[in-house]
Amino acid sequence: MNPSRKPLIAGNWKMHRTVSESVALARAVADTSRIGPRTEVVVAPVFTALQAVAQALVGTRVTVAGQNVYFEEQGAFTGEISAPMLKDVGCAWSLVGHSERRQLFGETDASVQKKLFALRKHGLAPIACLGETLAEREGGVTYDVLRRQLDAMTASLDAQEATALLTGLVLAYEPVWAIGTGRTAKSSDAQSAHAFLRDRIRDRYGEVADTVRILYGGSVKPDNAAELLAQPDVDGVLVGGASLDAAGFARIIQAAG
Ligand code: 13P
Repeated sequence: MNPSRKPLIAGNWKMHRTVSESVALARAVADTSRIGPRTEVVVAPVFTALQAVAQALVGTRVTVAGQNVYFEEQGAFTGEISAPMLKDVGCAWSLVGHSERRQLFGETDASVQKKLFALRKHGLAPIACLGETLAEREGGVTYDVLRRQLDAMTASLDAQEATALLTGLVLAYEPVWAIGTGRTAKSSDAQSAHAFLRDRIRDRYGEVADTVRILYGGSVKPDNAAELLAQPDVDGVLVGGASLDAAGFARIIQAAG
């Protein structure tokens, strides 16, 4: 971590937990975690539980994210949820471009960009996910993939627009081969990928790169969080499975200081 950026610890609950179970988990996270003075904590429950969880967390230091969003505001888009709707139920954030959305639900680099615009327009903070698959890593194209996914977020924007989009943006580097596999990236590999992303932003747009927080995600556990968070360009973590256990998630939060 770099002291110029606030640590961010995010839990992605994926498609787990009923409404009452989600509220209980959220309360347990808020009650048991000792959150450092500069640390931000976010949880992303299923859509059906967002409102109840957001209400349960009012007055705590834990905020709420959607796991996905659609870029239109309203209309004939069966099954989708818009940014104003996320805001309406108390979300401050939304994930976009998670690899499960990209792989299973046809999310593209272009739709990720539209979702970023929609979130920003409505005052929600995006957590924009990117990362290479195992085949891409083994094929030696990790950095080409990261460059493509990152550049797509600012495609066709002029420098001023790109800088506005990037200011304070949260990226989550999640190597697909590390998600849910127990195979965490080595902290040095995570650092290299994060530094690559930050350098790419700095090369193209300058100092705004230092305002971008880059989270690592992929089999983050209480036992490996501290080492990952010790890397200078790892500004937080995006936790899947281990965020479903309040005590374990509290240990991860503690690792941020
Ligand atoms: P796991 O922590 O279960 O590997 O999931 C990571 C992830 O996809 C978070 O968004």
